Amino acid sequence: MFKQLMGYIGEYKKYFILAPILVVGESVAELILPYLMGLLVGNGVGGNNIPYMYRLGAIMIVVAALGIVDGIYAAKFSAKASQGFGYNLREALFRKVQTFSFADVDKFSTASLVTRCTTDVKQLQQTAMELTRVLIRAPSLLFVSLFFCFRMNFRLSITFLVAIPTLLAVVLIIVHFTTHLFEIMQTKIDNLNASVQENLIAIRVVKSFVRMAFEKQKFKKANDDLMRTSIMATIRLSVMHPATMMVLYITTLAIYWFGGHMVGSGQMMDGQLLSFITYVNQILMSVMMFSMVLMGLTRARACGRRVTEVLNHEPDIRDSREDEGDETPIRGEIVFENVSFRYPQSDRKGMVLHDVSFRIPAGSFVAIVGATGEGKTSLVNLIPRFYDATSGAVYVDGKNVKDYNLRHLRKHIGMVLQNNVLFTGTIRSNLQWGNPQADDEELLAATKDSQAYEFISRFPEGLDTQIDQGGVNVSGGQKQRLCIARAMLKKPSILILDDSTSAVDSATEGKIRETFYNKYKDTTVLLVAQRISSVQYADQIIVLEHGTIEDMGSHDELMARCRVYQEIYASQQEGGGLDG
Ligand SMILES: Nc1ncnc2c1ncn2[C@@H]1O[C@H](COP(=O)(O)OP(=O)(O)O)[C@@H](O)[C@H]1O
Ligand SMILES: [Mg+2]
Repeated sequence: MFKQLMGYIGEYKKYFILAPILVVGESVAELILPYLMGLLVGNGVGGNNIPYMYRLGAIMIVVAALGIVDGIYAAKFSAKASQGFGYNLREALFRKVQTFSFADVDKFSTASLVTRCTTDVKQLQQTAMELTRVLIRAPSLLFVSLFFCFRMNFRLSITFLVAIPTLLAVVLIIVHFTTHLFEIMQTKIDNLNASVQENLIAIRVVKSFVRMAFEKQKFKKANDDLMRTSIMATIRLSVMHPATMMVLYITTLAIYWFGGHMVGSGQMMDGQLLSFITYVNQILMSVMMFSMVLMGLTRARACGRRVTEVLNHEPDIRDSREDEGDETPIRGEIVFENVSFRYPQSDRKGMVLHDVSFRIPAGSFVAIVGATGEGKTSLVNLIPRFYDATSGAVYVDGKNVKDYNLRHLRKHIGMVLQNNVLFTGTIRSNLQWGNPQADDEELLAATKDSQAYEFISRFPEGLDTQIDQGGVNVSGGQKQRLCIARAMLKKPSILILDDSTSAVDSATEGKIRETFYNKYKDTTVLLVAQRISSVQYADQIIVLEHGTIEDMGSHDELMARCRVYQEIYASQQEGGGLDG
């Protein structure tokens, strides 16, 4: 896993190499200073040698200055290295997520994907930075200090043979007991993000149902959960500091004890003991630093696993590369052959669609009716391959959709989803999603077809009217008409409207339908609707019930023979039907 992640260092490799080298330089400077200090106190002050003191003082200043410059560059390079690594990783993740099908997104959940692309990467980035600074610095501090210590006083240095292993053991035991908590912590962050995200997206619904208290409770639970896990991890880690400090103090005390005796008996100079103690601190600090990184690594491992899980996930829908760049037009014949379907991540038993078979000739106008939850959306989602059929096959122009290049297939399908969204920007920029090259004339023509022209022309800024995030500043029906115009601009061979005129009044809807008859004769139009009035003029009407096709035929045929259709019709006649 770490090897895979290291691949994302990419062009920032030179900083990953340079930074630790400079860090070593910085540490060397830091380590020479106490040694020189020892000499200064021992020989200079002790021997009252003024010129020697000046010379040594000057050397110390130069070494310190070099150390500072070196340190600044080390920090700069390690920042570049780790930030660059994070940048590459985020980009790779984002790219990967773009290839995900609806089913893949369902599997990970949007909130978790957001956490993985942000928090997890940040943690990895942080660890990468610590690694560049500490991974080499700590051992080099350790070894150089040990070298000086053993050089100064071999017998006294033997203390370390006890102190270092003890310290390592303490640290490892603590790390061992905290690792899994970090993994749990990341999933708690997922939950928290899910709660925030869901709430913000649906804030209007939440308010209209006055569910704020409930939502607050839900958020509180996720928040409490995260806090509890974090506190638990922190408590376990908090043992680290006193435990290691204790080892450090005991060691220092032992050194003072033995060293003091040595100084007393004339085996050691007092200046040496002073430097020795400084090195003892360096040594034990570096062991602690190293263990901190170790701890960071355990947390990073949890994040790394989550990130690589996304990176290595095989998209559920594999794009057929065969006819990449294929520009052959699609006529728009749609055939379902014994199609059954269930949502891959769903644990619901039974199929959402059972053994659905039908044929829609190119250029015809077909409607799908059925109560909510009967599988209408699921059915139309199989055509542009948002999901793949569990068994059976969907054909467009006689070719299995799985054998199409996705770009090619989707380019020819205009889709107005049931839960459609507009993006932040102007009306023009939103419409141009359908066709980036379209000029104002084409845009306005499409808005006329979708009956959006009239209200757009009433806006003072027309096409330049700003759409706020999610399209909150246009009404539901206006949004639907803009979405239809956007799909029409694609000039698709197949136009699918999934409940896309539900918020448009009947008269306007009738006008949109007119357009399909008159101007979209060659386009296969698939209209999912609730109202019989919207579908009765269709060439064919598919009646869907419990995921199976109850019947298929024209309005008159179905009125004559299909019980379900008659019932829907009758229910909508009472009191003037749903349209009111
Ligand atoms: N993303 C999904 N994951 C799991 N189950 C789903 C998903 N979308 C819809 N379903 C289920 O599939 C069934 C059919 O839904 P759908 O096709 O949206 O119905 P319709 O569009 O006719 O109202 C429903 O029972 C619904 O619970
Ligand atoms: Mg639906």
